[in-house]
Amino acid sequence: MTPALHVQLAAVSDAATIAALSRRLIEHGLPWSWRPERVARAIAAPNTNVAIVRGLDGLVGFGIMEYWDEDAHLVLFAVHPARHRQGIGSAILTWLEASAVAAGSKRIRLEARRDNVAARNFYNDHGYHEIRLERRMYSGSLDGVKLEKWLRPQGGDR
Ligand SMILES: CC(C)(COP(=O)(O)OP(=O)(O)OC[C@H]1O[C@@H](n2cnc3c(N)ncnc32)[C@H](O)[C@@H]1OP(=O)(O)O)[C@@H](O)C(=O)NCCC(=O)NCCS
Repeated sequence: MTPALHVQLAAVSDAATIAALSRRLIEHGLPWSWRPERVARAIAAPNTNVAIVRGLDGLVGFGIMEYWDEDAHLVLFAVHPARHRQGIGSAILTWLEASAVAAGSKRIRLEARRDNVAARNFYNDHGYHEIRLERRMYSGSLDGVKLEKWLRPQGGDR
C-alpha cells in the first residue's frame, strides 16, 4: 500500500534545495531569480506558505503560495522528476488550496510557460482555467499562459 503523502511547511534549511529545483525544473533557460535567499524570505514571510513533501532521500516537491487581499498566487511549484505522476503535485496543490480557502481567498492565480504541456494539463485537471496567453511573459522571451481557479462564486460574499 502506498503511504499517504505528508505535506508540511518548509524550514529555512530547505531553501537551498527548493532554489536548486526551481533553477533546474522551472527557471531553466531564464535568469535564476529564485535563489536560496529569496526562497528563505518566502519561508519567513507572513503572507506566504512554502509547502513541501519529503521522501526518503529528502525533499521531493514544493509549492509557494502568496495570499493577498482577495487572491492567492501560486508563484513556484515543482516535483522532482523521479517522483512525477505519483500524486505528489496533487497533494501539495490540494494542501495549498485548502490554505487559500482558510485565508479567505476568492481565487487562485498562476502562470505557466506556454510550452509546458505537463503543467497545463495538471492545472486543467485541478480545475484551473486558462484565461489569457501572454507573449514574451518570461524575461521578455518566452510565452506564458495565465490561469485561475475560483474558490467561491464570482461576486459572492461568502
Ligand atoms: C506539473 C508537475 C508539478 C506535476 O506534478 P506531479 O506530482 O507529477 O503531478 P500528479 O502526479 O499529481 O499528476 C496529476 C495529474 O496531472 C496531469 N499530469 C501530470 N504530469 C503530466 C504530464 N507529464 N503530461 C500530461 N499530464 C500530466 C495528469 O492528469 C495527472 O494525472 P495522471 O497521472 O493520473 O494522468 C510536475 O510535472 C513538475 O514538477 N513539472 C516541472 C516543474 C513545473 O512545470 N512546474 C509548474 C510550473 S507552472
